[in-house]
Parts: sequence; C-alpha cells; structure tokens
Amino acid sequence: KFEKNTVICVFGASGDLAKKKTFPALFGLFREGYLDPSTKIFGYARSKLSMEDLKSRVLPHLKKPHGESDDAKIEQFFKMISYIAGNYDTDEGFDELRTQVEKFEKSANVEVPHRLFYLALPPSVFLTVAKQIKSRVYAEKGITRVIVEKPFGHDLTSARELQKNLGPLFKEEELYRIDHYLGKELVKNLLVLRFGNQFLNASWNRDNIQSVQISFKERFGTEGRGGYFDSIGIIRDVMQNHLLQIMTLLTMERPVSFDPESIRDEKVKVLKAVAPIDKDDVLLGQYGKSEDGSKPAYVDDDTVDKDSKCVTFAAMTFNIENERWEGVPIMMRAGKALNESKVEIRLQYKAVASGVFKDIPNNELVIRVQPDAAVYLKFNAKTPGLSNATQVTDLNLTYASRYQDFWIPEAYEVLIRDALLGDHSNFVRDDELDISWGIFTPLLKHIERPDGPKPEIYPYGSRGPKGLKKYMEKHKYVMPEKH
Ligand code: BG6
Repeated sequence: KFEKNTVICVFGASGDLAKKKTFPALFGLFREGYLDPSTKIFGYARSKLSMEDLKSRVLPHLKKPHGESDDAKIEQFFKMISYIAGNYDTDEGFDELRTQVEKFEKSANVEVPHRLFYLALPPSVFLTVAKQIKSRVYAEKGITRVIVEKPFGHDLTSARELQKNLGPLFKEEELYRIDHYLGKELVKNLLVLRFGNQFLNASWNRDNIQSVQISFKERFGTEGRGGYFDSIGIIRDVMQNHLLQIMTLLTMERPVSFDPESIRDEKVKVLKAVAPIDKDDVLLGQYGKSEDGSKPAYVDDDTVDKDSKCVTFAAMTFNIENERWEGVPIMMRAGKALNESKVEIRLQYKAVASGVFKDIPNNELVIRVQPDAAVYLKFNAKTPGLSNATQVTDLNLTYASRYQDFWIPEAYEVLIRDALLGDHSNFVRDDELDISWGIFTPLLKHIERPDGPKPEIYPYGSRGPKGLKKYMEKHKYVMPEKH
C-alpha cells in the first residue's frame, strides 16, 4: 500500500496554493493512512521562513474530521517537513535541497529513490525550477515525478513553447499536469455512471438528449486576485481546463479499459471532433457592483485597470461532430460573483411524444459536482391518489445521506495520491492539452483584440448577463416552469 521513504518537495511552499491546497492534501492523506510516516517532505520557496512560520500559515487550513485525535497527527506531520529558503534562479538553494534529500535517503538506506516534485509556482519561474530539478535533484537511479499546476500556457503558441522546453527535461510519464476537477468525486464517477449503467449508456446520445449544460457558478468575485485574473479571465481560469475536462469525460466513447492511456486516448479522440466555437454565439459578462451597492465591481479592484474588458462570465456552445453528439448543443458557462456557488452538469432529454400527454416536462439528469454532491433524475410520475395528473419527481442519489460512512477525499488528496502511485488517469496528457488550447485560442484571440467585444456588465450576486435565459433557450434548453 505504501511506498516507503518517498521524498516530496513542494516548490512555492510559502504561497497561497501550497498553504490552502498542497500541504492540507498531504496532511489529509497522512491522517487517513495514505501517506507513509516515513515520507520526507520539503517545502521550498524564496521567503525566509522558519518551520514555525510555515506551520502557522498551514495550520488553519488543515482539516480535523476526527476531532482532537487529529492533533497528534498534525504534530507528527509537521515533523516530517523541512523548509528550505532558496532562490529559483541560482544554484545554492537547490544544492542545499540535494544535500538534504541525499542525506535523508542515505540514512533511510533507500536503494531506489522515489521523488515527487510539486510545482505550485507562477509561470514566470516554472521552467527555471524544472531545469534546476533536472540538473540537481533528479533521481538518476530511481523514480522522479513532477506535478505541474496550471496555467500550462496562455494560448496554443505559449503552451506549445512550454511543452517544447519541458520535453527535453522530463519524459511524459514523469509529468503530472494537475487539473483538480479530475479529482472531484463526481467527475471521477462519470465514467462509471455512464458506462456501468445500461439505462444511461443506451440513452447517452443525440437520439435521446436534447441539450447538455456544464455550468460553474461562484458567489464570490476576484477580490484580492484581480491582478492575477485580469490577464487570465474566466475562460482560461476554469473553462479551458476544468469544464472542458468535464465535457470530455461526459462525451468520450467507452475506453477499451480503465488504464490511463486508454482513457486519455478516448479523451483526445472526442476533443478532435469538437467543431470550432462560434465566436458570434457567445455571451460575455463582467460583474459590476451588486444591486445594493455593498459588493464591489470587478474594476473596483485596485490591481485592475478601470477600463478592463476582462471576462468574468462566459457562456458558449460546443458541437461535437460525431455520430453520438452531432446537433446536440453542449453549453458551457462559468461566472464569478453570481447568486450562488454551484458546479453541475445537466442533460436534458428530448420530449416524449405528445398525444396522451400535453406539456409533460422533459426528463433531466443532473450531476451536481458541488456543493452537496448528488446525481438526480427528474422524471414524471402520476400524482399519488385519485388524481391522474402527472408531476415531476426525482430519483435522487445525494451523497451526504447515502454515503455517510465514507471518507470522500478532497480533489488534491486524490490526485497527489495518484501521482505517488504513478497513475496518470486523472492527469492531462500533452496531446490533450494541445487540442484543448486549439479549441479555445481562436475565441480568446477574438475577445482580446483591442476592438474585441465588450462584456456586458451584470450585478454582483445576480444570475449573470441578462441574455442568459434566451441563450439557453436558443440552444434547445426547455426551462422548467418555475423559471
Ligand atoms: C481554480 C480557479 O482553478 O478553480 C479559481 O483558478 C476557482 O478561480 C477554482 O475559484 C474553483 O475550484 P473549486 O474546487 O473551489 O471549485
């Protein structure tokens, strides 16, 4: 079950991601018995921090589901960590890291080193660190694995450039491009739901499904992250990666087996069938102040240009030109500062033949990724009792009530464990990345031209741009009555 004496090195250890996600995930694995106590963790960053400093940063983000009994584990966990302050572009820090790694492995009599490097770093230092890893701490006689965080490039050209530079340093099998949505329970469940259930499998096609929606909503804006977000926008932030991954798993063909390459081969295949996005059929928005004025507009962020055209909401539609999907609109939408936080997939079925029924609602299968993971099917039934009227009801699998005794790991916990075990299934392959940039780059170029479209301003806390309902209806979504 365990790999003993693994070395894990977190670059960018003083940063936000490491504090909020990477260290807490390592702790979660350790707490649940999925990270061997013999593991040695190094945190590496430029800031001159003591272990106490690092601890006080990370501690508030560690989860203690078992209450006080987790405190001892926390103490033990921090004992497994050493922090090294070093530059990224000079050798000294990396030499120090090498010395400490080798010392650890020697004292533990490690014959085949197993080293996992986690790059929680901004793109500006990404390659520099990759080169240093290769020249200074690469396990020549053992296993090296490198987890890289997005962004993997800014568009197709820069993603290719990055890949070209990384290629000579690490083999594809050594690279783990993380997309944390692939570690979410319901995203991981998609293939089983689809291919393990004949009733879904049989209806998963253009003959039965009228429209698909993949939607991402967040209640909060980019407060404090504006500087980062302004050059990124919602399309790069969550659509080109997280939502496209969902779309791929939702639409790919059945893989010959669940081995990582078979899955990724199918993902690439369906992506190749995606038609270019119609640039004139997108809805773009940017949030303004909330209606009551209490929440700021996107451009109120000091780090953002007052004329910024940065897109904080987008909706677009995909057509997959293959036998299964052609003609089924696949709408993808994502927005910050909306009325709620929710990520869900909605497949609306075609209407049943009329005749005996008038206005009977279309079936809908909803896969709610978060919050409150659930899968439910809206279907029609007779109103109980003497009435012969129909009504919509649910077949409902809500995880919190059905699976009370299960530990459902955080996405990062799942993925770090996969990487430790060398399982690539839930990581993005180089060709997959290339195609995904190919799909979005023309649209991004169009939007980001100086004379490109201006996003419509929507109030913070609203449902998004006004035209959304019309947009969904145009793409064959039949609104349930309550809307
Ligand atoms: C990140 C984006 O990749 O995903 C954020 O950069 C976004 O802007 C986040 O908030 C959403 O992740 P989750 O797991 O909270 O849904």
